[in-house]
Amino acid sequence: MGESSFSEVDYRYFRKKVLERAGIDLDAYKPRQMRRRIRQLSEKMGYASLRKYWRFLEKNPSEYERFLDYITINFSEFFRDPDRFRELEGRIIPELLKKTSNLRIWSAACATGEEPYSLAIILEERYPKVSCRILATDIDEAALRKAEDGLYEEMHLRNVSLKRLNRHFTKEGDKFKIKDEIKRRVKFKKMNLLEDDFPREFFHLILCRNVIIYLEDEVKDALIAKLHAALKKDGILFLGGTEKILSPQESGFKPAGACFYQKI
Ligand SMILES: C[S@@+](CC[C@H](N)C(=O)[O-])C[C@H]1O[C@@H](n2cnc3c(N)ncnc32)[C@H](O)[C@@H]1O
Repeated sequence: MGESSFSEVDYRYFRKKVLERAGIDLDAYKPRQMRRRIRQLSEKMGYASLRKYWRFLEKNPSEYERFLDYITINFSEFFRDPDRFRELEGRIIPELLKKTSNLRIWSAACATGEEPYSLAIILEERYPKVSCRILATDIDEAALRKAEDGLYEEMHLRNVSLKRLNRHFTKEGDKFKIKDEIKRRVKFKKMNLLEDDFPREFFHLILCRNVIIYLEDEVKDALIAKLHAALKKDGILFLGGTEKILSPQESGFKPAGACFYQKI
């Protein structure tokens, strides 16, 4: 089946409804992927028409939540891309701490919390006395609720050493709960990266990983510019493994290792 098996009029209607209710503009994301995901989900529920599927979503809050989860793709795991996390721990954070004793970090698009908690674990272990605030934001409220709950299945913990697992988690049934001393270091907040304003020249380190790959090029460029403005001079932007800034200089950055960019 082709990607546009929905009528264009219905898709426009559906897009408007999602924008009104969730504040998510489907057009900001790569259209083929987005339409495929919506089609898969609506057909799975037995709806070939998007208008009918929307009516169904309006009447079924849990299905609406499932739909949002699915289109926002909020998979994450602790220490995702472990080599880069080692670099963050061994080089990037120590360098930032040479310049400030009050580190401000933002995990933008934090999904279910694995990313900011990984940072908090590093800070708790290496710099227990250093004052450091980690802001963690996402557009998806259900993901944020899970993040605040801090309870994880084993598959999200495959990069966590046994030593860290024992020190920072408690076992609850077949899941693992992050301890309060780690939780306390992170503040979660709902934020739409494409719509909301960011503080200016505020953060020393911003992680924005595995979200810009889903965005249309123009939307991605505008977001990179907003993230640049939110960083302090010499601050670091940490992107996902498959994400790149094509002309860093033009965007006001210089490369600072694979996946890391420093604000000039
Ligand atoms: C694949 S997860 C990335 C999680 C984490 N950064 C990582 O790399 O493991 C992508 C996240 O981006 C969030 N997201 C998508 N569009 C967003 C937007 N416009 N504003 C804020 N978050 C958004 C989704 O809700 C999802 O949780």
